[in-house]
Amino acid sequence: RFEQSLRPQFLSQYIGQEKVKENLGIFIEAAKGRSESLDHVLLYGPPGLGKTTLATVIANEMDVNIRMTSGPAIERPGDLAAVVSSLEPGDVLFIDEIHRLNRTIEEVLYPAMEDFCLDIVVGKGPSARSIRLDLPPFTLIGATTRAGALSAPLRDRFGVPLRLEYYEVAPLKEIVIRSSGLFEVAIDEQAAVEIARRSRGTPRIANRLLRRVRDYAQVRGNGSITMEMANEALEMLQVDSRGLDHIDHKLITGMIERFRGGPVGIDTISASIGEESVTIEDVYEPYLLQIGFIQRTPRGRIATRLAYEHFGYPIPEHNDF
Ligand code: ADE
Repeated sequence: RFEQSLRPQFLSQYIGQEKVKENLGIFIEAAKGRSESLDHVLLYGPPGLGKTTLATVIANEMDVNIRMTSGPAIERPGDLAAVVSSLEPGDVLFIDEIHRLNRTIEEVLYPAMEDFCLDIVVGKGPSARSIRLDLPPFTLIGATTRAGALSAPLRDRFGVPLRLEYYEVAPLKEIVIRSSGLFEVAIDEQAAVEIARRSRGTPRIANRLLRRVRDYAQVRGNGSITMEMANEALEMLQVDSRGLDHIDHKLITGMIERFRGGPVGIDTISASIGEESVTIEDVYEPYLLQIGFIQRTPRGRIATRLAYEHFGYPIPEHNDF
């Protein structure tokens, strides 16, 4: 995939997440200095902030291989055994969506993480017995959008838990400029800022918008990304000034028009706009909460004054914002 080429390969190329980089840089250098594998790392935070990218960067910095899998892909203990038994000393095992591992697998994973061994049951019935497989030392990197959904014993076995934060406009702008350079297209600084502003704090979205703006500038302009091209393209894409798309719109205008701004429960919102509650909770809500357009209360979600203003609704009299 072309996407791959936009991904930074080393920490020095990774823009933003300064605190995370500072921590990782030290733990990586220390582990390498002792010729040990890096302790297990848990990466958590909203989608699109670079968890997979960071796992690849860690493997590159440690100069080891990375094996990638995901929680739902590991259905039986044998699936896990197959992956870990192919690891070389120091390798990274990346498990995306680690909160979706089932309990049985989690329990096989504990000794693998702590003592680098696997206890596997072979055979059935009275002849069933457990055999112990020794594993090379390895680094498990788990990624999740919901650290709260991990069981406490699993969470506690990660020596390096790292939370990725939404990006500010400045680092996103740098990412847009870096990606434009890799695409070999010229971009005005303000155009890069505009794309960054409308990317919901998320590099994946910034790069996606950049690709579409690049298409637009190539077809409607001379290929260079000017402010005019960026604005026209973003308008065509129906990405508003805060980067909200039509699903965000449906979500908030639905809360305002059908539920007088709330409080309204997630399942009620979900049914009324036809998006799954988990998608709303994991993908849409985190950014809307971050920019203060919705709030969570014990009685449900409410649309805030900022949301009413942004979408051009009069502030209701009864409000208790
Ligand atoms: N592309 C996507 N995310 C990036 C990041 N954090 N730094 C540099 N390039 C990126």
